[in-house]
Amino acid sequence: MLKTRITELLGIQHPVLMGAMHRVTTAEMVAAVAEAGGIGFIPAAAFASLDALRGEIRKARTLTDGPIGLNISLVPAVHPGEKRIREIIEVGVEEGVGAFETAGGSPAAFLPLIKASRIPVLHKVTQVRYARKAEEIGADAVIVIGCEGGGYIGPAEIPTMILVEGAARALSIPVVAAGGIADGRTMAAALTLGAEGVLMGTRFIASTEAGLHARYQERLVETGETDTVVLFRSFGSPLRFIRNRLTPEVERMEREGRSMREILDRIGPGQEKDLRLDDDPQGRLFPVGFGVTLIDRIRPIAEIVAEIVREAETAILCLDRVKGETAAA
Ligand SMILES: Cc1cc2nc3c(=O)[nH]c(=O)nc-3n(C[C@H](O)[C@H](O)[C@H](O)COP(=O)(O)O)c2cc1C
Repeated sequence: MLKTRITELLGIQHPVLMGAMHRVTTAEMVAAVAEAGGIGFIPAAAFASLDALRGEIRKARTLTDGPIGLNISLVPAVHPGEKRIREIIEVGVEEGVGAFETAGGSPAAFLPLIKASRIPVLHKVTQVRYARKAEEIGADAVIVIGCEGGGYIGPAEIPTMILVEGAARALSIPVVAAGGIADGRTMAAALTLGAEGVLMGTRFIASTEAGLHARYQERLVETGETDTVVLFRSFGSPLRFIRNRLTPEVERMEREGRSMREILDRIGPGQEKDLRLDDDPQGRLFPVGFGVTLIDRIRPIAEIVAEIVREAETAILCLDRVKGETAAA
């Protein structure tokens, strides 16, 4: 059993979290993670109305008695305004979510409201200095995401190994590691560096519950170590994608100094396609973390979580043995 301050804070069995994933996360996935003993976050920004968001939380609630998390995006470009964010928090509080995950900007203005509800808040950052700030302003824990991760990885592109060690040294509140964690040994590595939990995105995309179209599932499994590329660095917003027909074009347009509008016009229509229905992974940008290279099959979330925890426990015991033999030698 892996027990940490994160399992205690969130009231979960295993220190395993699923990050919010725009266009991917569903109530079924979040419920499956909760049933498996962890917690997953529903991305509030994915819902056009508060009622739709409330409906998704309730749907997850019908599938599990475990905790449901709610992610609040504070990315300046898509910030829906303070009023809307307060309303989202109120929905979360009314629906009794188990935790909030904030990301993409400072949560300072909203922390008093969240903290008044006594629901834990974990803030996701890409640098130790932002992690320190999160601790200062009262976050209960930080999630540090290294440049191996899926989604926004921050312009400094700090590797997970450096970031987790740096944050664990610098902070008193618990640190959750994210970015490239996809199996039990990568989880054990993160715990060894001082993390008290892991948050994964990409590993859960390759799940039965995510229900991606078979062509996307095949692509996830076959993606190798040179098959991903980071785009949008020139806009200060780096994101990793599986290489496909579109990625060299975006690279070229960035080199030519084209605007985001021009790039979006080029790739736009395909981006709107539903990953569950679309059969052409070449025709849209498909965001993933580097951990995709470690994924060899699509499996139910219950199996993914159980195996990762089992493997991590074994890897940690194995480290103890190595240490013992070294000391004895
Ligand atoms: C397809 C995709 C969509 C994502 N969307 C969001 C999002 O809407 N909000 C957010 O805070 N993080 C988002 N992320 C980041 C994840 O929550 C998580 O931090 C990240 O996937 C962890 O790295 P990993 O993919 O290497 O496990 C996304 C990641 C992926 C792969």
